[in-house]
Amino acid sequence: MVTIPTVTLSDGTTFPELGFGTYKLRDAEGVDAIVSAIDSGYRLLDSAVNYENEAEVGEAVRRSGIRDELIVTTKVPGRDHGAQKTRRSAEASLQRLGLERIDLYLIHWPNPSQGAWLDTYREMLRLRDEGLVGSVGVSNFTAAMLTRLIDETGVAPVVNQVEMHPYFPQQSLREFHAAHGIRTESWSPLARRSELLGEQVVTDIAAAHGVTPTQAVLRWHTQLGSTPIPKSADPARQIENADVFGFTLAGDEVAALSGLERGRLWDGDPDTHEEM
Ligand SMILES: NC(=O)c1ccc[n+]([C@@H]2O[C@H](COP(=O)([O-])OP(=O)(O)OC[C@H]3O[C@@H](n4cnc5c(N)ncnc54)[C@H](OP(=O)(O)O)[C@@H]3O)[C@@H](O)[C@H]2O)c1
Repeated sequence: MVTIPTVTLSDGTTFPELGFGTYKLRDAEGVDAIVSAIDSGYRLLDSAVNYENEAEVGEAVRRSGIRDELIVTTKVPGRDHGAQKTRRSAEASLQRLGLERIDLYLIHWPNPSQGAWLDTYREMLRLRDEGLVGSVGVSNFTAAMLTRLIDETGVAPVVNQVEMHPYFPQQSLREFHAAHGIRTESWSPLARRSELLGEQVVTDIAAAHGVTPTQAVLRWHTQLGSTPIPKSADPARQIENADVFGFTLAGDEVAALSGLERGRLWDGDPDTHEEM
């Protein structure tokens, strides 16, 4: 089992430097894969209403026998924005998860044309005050949206989960996060296994440290202060992905990986891309 180091979020929560993505993990095999990830040492699980696997995540949490050590994340989908709908969405997520609390609750996408993310966020803060939610964060928010959120509510989200990998290192957003005590979480941290893992600079750096290309990339995330949430259905790859804290990339290696920057891979600009 791998021990994953932790950091402290702005609300005092102890938070892993690396977590587990669950998109596409469903049904009985999905539960098995999530249980295997927990057994490997993962303590942060990332789900969403739209992954249609909250029941599987809840089942895996119960099977693990260590519910109190886990941080279970789920997200408000676009169709549930607005105060009343957000409350109903949270209650439905809790029911599907079969848990008494959502440990980390995120707005999945801001969907600016709906104009409801502020009301959604305020309701999430109320749910937190009532104990149904542990920590409140967001996903796919821009610096301008975060600025407005903080100005209007006085409460910075504890995390902003965004697309991040060496093709899209998110430097300016990470600087904004650091200035406001917001932890970055990287979604699709391996760029969904695209050609990234075969890039010469990635394979050279991995070879220099005697690690795999995946491990070099995930270490890049953690050294930049972001929590990557790689998904793998395979127990051996789950361990490989978690076991990245026994080596340290040099500054020029981190910079070389960031030098692969070419922009978003999936047209997910939060100012225009919306998901319901
Ligand atoms: N907030 C958002 O809008 C948002 C958007 C996208 C994703 N997410 C979250 O982020 C998580 C991760 O992103 P992702 O699933 O899109 O992509 P990812 O974690 O970057 O890549 C997953 C892919 O890489 C493969 N893989 C994993 N470890 C590997 C290894 N060691 N060697 C070779 N291949 C490996 C997996 O295959 P195997 O399973 O076969 O190993 C899978 O095909 C998601 O599961 C989800 O929780 C959030």
